Amino acid sequence: MLKKTIKDIDIKGKRVFIRVDFNVPIKDGVIADDTRILGALPTIRYAVGQGAKVILASHLGRPLKDKKKAEEKGLPYDAAKYSLKPVFEYLSKIDGLNVAFADDCIGDAVDAKVAAMKDGDVLLLENLRLHAGEEKNDPEFAKQLAANADVYVNDAFGTAHRAHASTEGITHFVDDCVAGLLMEKELNFLGKALHDPERPFVAILGGAKVSDKIPVIESLIKRKVDKLLIGGAMAYTFFKAQGFTVGKSLCEDDMMPKALEIEQMAKDAGVELLLPTDHQVVDSYDPLHSAKTIPIAFTNTGLVGLDIGVETIAIFEKALEGAKTIVWNGPMGMFEEKPFDIGTIAIAEAVARATEAGATSIVGGGDSVSAVNQAGLEDKITHISTGGGATLEFLAGDVLPGVAALDDK
Ligand code: 3PG
Repeated sequence: MLKKTIKDIDIKGKRVFIRVDFNVPIKDGVIADDTRILGALPTIRYAVGQGAKVILASHLGRPLKDKKKAEEKGLPYDAAKYSLKPVFEYLSKIDGLNVAFADDCIGDAVDAKVAAMKDGDVLLLENLRLHAGEEKNDPEFAKQLAANADVYVNDAFGTAHRAHASTEGITHFVDDCVAGLLMEKELNFLGKALHDPERPFVAILGGAKVSDKIPVIESLIKRKVDKLLIGGAMAYTFFKAQGFTVGKSLCEDDMMPKALEIEQMAKDAGVELLLPTDHQVVDSYDPLHSAKTIPIAFTNTGLVGLDIGVETIAIFEKALEGAKTIVWNGPMGMFEEKPFDIGTIAIAEAVARATEAGATSIVGGGDSVSAVNQAGLEDKITHISTGGGATLEFLAGDVLPGVAALDDK
């Protein structure tokens, strides 16, 4: 790790401003997935244990953009959806934390709450993105955030690909800017996989759109991943480019030349690129009753592919056997709808088995992580990344602005 971490500096009695990523799914005021909160807890506990005054700041959703969209369409806007209060309630129940909540992230009332903090106290600030200055990386807003920070800690790996006021701008106004323990863990696991993987290195990519994954695919091929397994709807762009009928399956026609280019790139680099050979489809006119598994080549114009098939599962399982590094991002099909979860769950199980046999496995992206959790396999994966877009950008080889802004060791 080339960046300083919270353990490299003295934080006792200091106001430690920790940028966390508490952008978590909330249903009816209750946290539906606490992975990101649990991920940040070691840093929070460490800072509390050191006697720091811990100020937590996060975004939640995209309130101002959503408000604008709602206004344009004349739809109602539910401001309560963007409050971090449910996260405060969640944190309040955690043993050993003395947490308070501030209704804003800047301003006199916040300053007064910070001034009243004792060593070891925690204060969660309200959603940063309620201020336009956050996403604009406005220096004035960043300065106001920095006014309550003696030390800045970035533990929000999931937001490190954004150059926002709380991830980048603030670092210009605070002397000590370091990584949190979650950030350090993410960078260590992903950095090792990208720059110095133990081989064989197998990457599994899925999800709806190939356009979202092009930089990652190219980066993995350039780094000569041994095998690249592609599932999910993004595979249909490859099939259509090869001349197969994909029916009504999701497909990005404008990406077809790119798909062919990627296949050639993989061939030239000696990377084994595996695409599904069969899939679960439904008849678009009778989606509820027509699920069946057929070879890709048998797809006709009325069919929609929604998951990989049993033969593909077996091929992918075999490809994972003996792997020493596995990176997985994106589901194999429409896993939120049964029976189209079969492929994704089978891959989660195969990754867990390979991990038991000695592989280092890294799973990132909301849907693949949900599938792992759904299968109860979270303890059998070496590292579950809290990043979605950030993980992809990191694997694509991009420098994340939230990381670049931190102090070097
Ligand atoms: C995420 O969920 O990927 C991060 O919290 C970043 O959120 P954003 O895509 O709204 O910037």
